[in-house]
Amino acid sequence: MSEQRSRSHAQGSLCAHAETPSLGLFRSSIWSYYRKQGRDLPWRRAREPYRILVSEIMLQQTQVDRVLKKYDEFLAAFPDFASLAAAPLRDVLKAWQGLGYNRRALALKRSAELAMRDYNGQLPDSAEELESFPGIGKATASAVCAFAFNRPVVFIETNIRTVFIHFFFSGRKEVKDAELLPLLEQSLDRENPREWYYALMDYGAMLKRTVGNLSRKSAHYHRQQPFKGSDRQLRGRMIRLLTERKRMGMKELAEQLGVPAAKARIILMQLEKDGLIKKTKSMVSIA
Ligand code: ADE
Repeated sequence: MSEQRSRSHAQGSLCAHAETPSLGLFRSSIWSYYRKQGRDLPWRRAREPYRILVSEIMLQQTQVDRVLKKYDEFLAAFPDFASLAAAPLRDVLKAWQGLGYNRRALALKRSAELAMRDYNGQLPDSAEELESFPGIGKATASAVCAFAFNRPVVFIETNIRTVFIHFFFSGRKEVKDAELLPLLEQSLDRENPREWYYALMDYGAMLKRTVGNLSRKSAHYHRQQPFKGSDRQLRGRMIRLLTERKRMGMKELAEQLGVPAAKARIILMQLEKDGLIKKTKSMVSIA
């Protein structure tokens, strides 16, 4: 690479582009950053689809740093679909503690049950079939296809969105995924989609640290609601109490949570509807 070109790459890697870069320049900027700064993450060393699915479900709504603290521990407790499918939900929720959004743990367990029942303990390698699994939406199904099976699927998640907005829509607001998709399709490395997507995600994470969250310029951006004082926090605390204590009365639950009985009942109803807890007479426990 000539010196002049390498300088323009270094510049291109951080500044918004005055002009839209060519796809060639875009690709080489992403690869060049990845070669130097790509993250070595445990789920990227994994090849078993089970391990990759666990990481993708964890990463759906939880930051990489937090997932790093729980990933190995979870896999030690539940090394494969068989062990996860057979485990009591209470044990799975215990191992999920600290990741938040407990519904994902239940969905992952249900997916394990489905893999055991209908797929001989394996995961299918098509995005369409994967989307029929609980808790697996379009982006997660495609991510699993790319990372577990190295399939050249086209998909968008938040870091990838950030990268394409930065390079190709820097002055714009309300950018639609439909505008980004043709660029994703054209730039996709069909020989090595797995690493191409790692590289895009790492570049997006770097942009978020340095220039801020550009996915706010997306028409699909959803800000996460504040956690403190929210029902989500109360749901998490109720689940934690029930994983520790097995069974509790309604009155005691409300007292432990420090909320009126009527509020505790609302939280309980939400968790019951999600299939996370059950009520027998006046006692509450994990489903
Ligand atoms: N590597 C593989 N999947 C990832 C994800 N969802 N987020 C960050 N890094 C990843």
